[in-house]
Amino acid sequence: DEGGGTPTMLSGRNKHHDHANMVEVAALTGDLSAPADVRYELVAQKQEILLASGAKVETWTYNGVIAPELRARQGDMVEVKLINKDIDKGVTIHWHGYNVPNAMDGVPGMTQDAVKPGESFTYKFRANQAGTYWFHSHQQAAEQVLKGLFGTFIVEPAHEIETYDVELTLINHDWVTDQGLRTAFVNDDLMKRMRMESGKRVKLRLVNANQLSEKYMLQGTAYQITDIDGSPIQNPDLLPDRTAFRLAAGGRYDVVFTMPDRPVLFMIGDDANSDQPGVIFYTNSPPEQPDLQADSGQFDPSRYGQPAENEVTAVKTFDREFTMIIGNKMGFYDGNFTFLWTINGEVYPHTPTFVVKEGERVKTTFINKSFSEHPMHLHGHHMTVLKKNGKNVKTPWVTDTLNVNPDETYEVAFTADNPGMWMDHCHLLDHAAVGMVLHLMYD
Ligand code: C2O
Ligand code: CU
Repeated sequence: DEGGGTPTMLSGRNKHHDHANMVEVAALTGDLSAPADVRYELVAQKQEILLASGAKVETWTYNGVIAPELRARQGDMVEVKLINKDIDKGVTIHWHGYNVPNAMDGVPGMTQDAVKPGESFTYKFRANQAGTYWFHSHQQAAEQVLKGLFGTFIVEPAHEIETYDVELTLINHDWVTDQGLRTAFVNDDLMKRMRMESGKRVKLRLVNANQLSEKYMLQGTAYQITDIDGSPIQNPDLLPDRTAFRLAAGGRYDVVFTMPDRPVLFMIGDDANSDQPGVIFYTNSPPEQPDLQADSGQFDPSRYGQPAENEVTAVKTFDREFTMIIGNKMGFYDGNFTFLWTINGEVYPHTPTFVVKEGERVKTTFINKSFSEHPMHLHGHHMTVLKKNGKNVKTPWVTDTLNVNPDETYEVAFTADNPGMWMDHCHLLDHAAVGMVLHLMYD
């Protein structure tokens, strides 16, 4: 079971018209009265789940499975009914990276109330962007995402550019089990073996649902990274065999390769070893334990493919410029004296609110003066990365979750095209839980 369980699909897509015009329109706050093309129901519930190794996890999930996958086609009106069965503190669904109307963003206390046991809430939005996304509860997210309240949201392009023989969604997460901490792809925490004919085109949709960035590596084939955070890379170069890449917590990459006539190994983890979960694709007979080799290099999005060209890459002067200096200090949060991650020296609610007007071009600079990475995630918008450490990047790329390492500086830009009140926060959710959060507000 690759997808980790099928959500209750109440009705199929009911029309297949050409969505080309619709996709162009910034219909984000648009009319939601049109009938739904796809409908899902997600029931938040407690569930004991067995991983492939036999380790037991007490999870909180949607529909009793780890990471259910929702699918739509670009242009579809999507309707998702969330029902809370028995999660005491209430739940929501946040469509991570997806530019939904503000009221559908799933942030309790800001865009809706948390859905209490026995209650429901219906999300509805037009799926304007194709790509690999995920969703998760935003109520006490540090606890609820850790426990399993997440899934994947895959939007197929309205116009198929390339089709793949095999498509695999791999969402990784670290589980606290009765046998200790286990990394798993959905509920598979062992090396998985998959037969594959040579010549087949394979697409891996990778989602990092863990609480830290993760390293991944493909061995046995050259490959391409075709999408970052759901946004396509133009003319992605072929990366050499054994190129490693690092995905931010909350980030997504789409990886494509052609199956050669020898095994391909997909591995996760910094100290990748054959006890880690991964996938071995093989052509004839399942191989013995693979002979894992060292990386040949590291993927760098700042010099890959062709620059993303959009309405902010050519802008020279911005309507608004904001700076977020990330630091740390000891201080009080919620009445407890604790270790804090700060933005401009403060924690929420003392962090600044960034105010913009609709249509403005906005630049934000992240400066990390702390000793941890921080995956900076902006709701409701995509950021284009323009500069790293003061220098123009060779290939601006589009992201919704940008990993900023210690001593790094990034300049990103976006168009303020989605009115509302949005969160901009660190996606190490335990950092967000102690106030590493600010708000973006439309005036
Ligand atoms: Cu994936 Cu505000 O979060
Ligand atoms: Cu952080």
